[in-house]
Amino acid sequence: EKDGFDHYMLKEIHEQPRSLRHTMAGRIDEAKQMVKLPELDLSPETVKGIEKIYIVACGTAYHAGMIGKHVIENLAKIPVEIDVASEFRYRNPLFGQKTLTVVVSQSGETADTLAALREAKRNGSSVLAITNVVGSSIAREADHVMTTKAGPEIAVASTKAYTSQLIAFYLLGIYFAQEKKSMEASDCAALVQELQKLPDQVEKILGHAEEIRQFAISIKEERQMFFLGRGLDYAVSLEGSLKLKEISYIHSEAYPAGELKHGTLALIEEGTRVIALSTQPHLHEKMVSNITEVKARGAVVLGVALEDNVELHRSVDEVCLIPATHPLLAPVLCVIPLQLIAYYTSVSLGNDVDRPRNLAKSVTVE
Ligand code: F6R
Repeated sequence: EKDGFDHYMLKEIHEQPRSLRHTMAGRIDEAKQMVKLPELDLSPETVKGIEKIYIVACGTAYHAGMIGKHVIENLAKIPVEIDVASEFRYRNPLFGQKTLTVVVSQSGETADTLAALREAKRNGSSVLAITNVVGSSIAREADHVMTTKAGPEIAVASTKAYTSQLIAFYLLGIYFAQEKKSMEASDCAALVQELQKLPDQVEKILGHAEEIRQFAISIKEERQMFFLGRGLDYAVSLEGSLKLKEISYIHSEAYPAGELKHGTLALIEEGTRVIALSTQPHLHEKMVSNITEVKARGAVVLGVALEDNVELHRSVDEVCLIPATHPLLAPVLCVIPLQLIAYYTSVSLGNDVDRPRNLAKSVTVE
């Protein structure tokens, strides 16, 4: 059942090249290098009329939504707000006639996300669900459904569902951009081409699992860790930090690197372990200066950075390399080492990786 892997989580991490291909399958017009999403049954007029989008989800799906906001705003030029479902449902959000609510849920059964969907519908918003489970409550109640097709996810810590949710957001963002003509056709085609390279690039990163395992062993005694990033890398930091917390029980905090000086820097001392993500070329320089700041206080830094980012490589103690891609797509690659770090740390501590304490795979009560 685990295909020779020690745990479901490791099997699911290694399945990602395949699950990502499944998420894209049938949704790309190869000849035109365009995205097609007939299952959404949205007319071009409807897409053009969308004035605002809410993205609502919990946990890892929420972290995917943070990337989704960035992608949709950048490509389709539609303003997006993102909310944690348990907050959204009780805060009386403002809905207009042309608000689209996108709910994201691997299981399709999360109580707060389902309640948020109902709240949106009650207020006249149409709801698009991104879910991994066909026929789930969320899939049944939504007006439009995009299935992530990642296959069953057994480990409590979500991995392949997250990366498939990211692919779903890229497809959706490009599709909206095509319908709205907010992007040049050639730019769309170039992005579609880069998107299709991701599965092989993930495979390449998985080939470095042994180095990542060594790093994980080196952090297992830590009491606290920090993840730093800017922009999309900050959103991925949150996911890396959650993964580490939930299965290794090491406390970690993800921080937008520019916010450090406003408080968190006080926690950095001699030997503090920091993981710094830098995959966004326009933010490289800023990251180097943030890394220099923490190193000056004694931090030991692992950089997760693009292969050609030599300046960043020089600024850190160890580096984990990410192949070149379009900046918007980098989260899919950057999260892979973080999933492996969480996994191997948990294993080296002897924890129950697939069933961490206090947690359930599907949170059907609020
Ligand atoms: C973390 C994790 C959870 C889920 C969250 C939402 O690894 O799995 O944070 O992402 O409970 O679950 P779904 O996506 O099923 O709504």
